[in-house]
Amino acid sequence: MKRTGIFYGSQTGNTAAAARLIADELGIPPSDVRDIASASTDEVMAFDSLILGTSTWGTGELQGDWAVFLPKLGSMDLGGKPVALFGLGDQLSFGDWYLDGMGSIYDAVVAAGAEVVGSWPTDDYQHSESTAVRNGKFVGLALDADNQDHLTPVRVSAWVAAISPLLS
Ligand SMILES: Cc1cc2nc3c(=O)[nH]c(=O)nc-3n(C[C@H](O)[C@H](O)[C@H](O)COP(=O)(O)O)c2cc1C
Repeated sequence: MKRTGIFYGSQTGNTAAAARLIADELGIPPSDVRDIASASTDEVMAFDSLILGTSTWGTGELQGDWAVFLPKLGSMDLGGKPVALFGLGDQLSFGDWYLDGMGSIYDAVVAAGAEVVGSWPTDDYQHSESTAVRNGKFVGLALDADNQDHLTPVRVSAWVAAISPLLS
């Protein structure tokens, strides 16, 4: 059976909570939901498909643990592996850099040969700029626990329904 692993980086717990929600919806066991802070490249490569989640800090900076791991992606061959992304950010206070961390992961996994699935429409968001928007869509699921936390469950459900057939 094909296995999907979820790897997240989280400073205050919001991205970790979203990772658990996504795992629940997809029926992924808690043991396959991992903090990127303590993950190895072998662990990541062991999965057939991946869901990678990050928050954004500073002004458009990748979450700290992901910033440490990202250069390792350069030595990995993700060729043919489906990869879905999700990001947490604050579209009102940091509207010029909303979800830029997800944009950084996108660039790295594309360079490593991954097939990125699960883009998401930009309707219903109020950011000004985001490197996570390519060709008019977010490159992955866009979440905002600071301003739109009430929308997280419905967004996760809709996104999971869309990516589920693409990961297996
Ligand atoms: C000091 C600070 C800087 C932030 N910078 C950004 C940013 O540049 N872009 C963004 O989208 N969100 C930014 N955020 C919002 C966080 O990404 C957001 O609160 C997120 O839910 C945190 O998730 P975590 O607890 O998983 O790290 C910032 C928050 C703080 C407190």
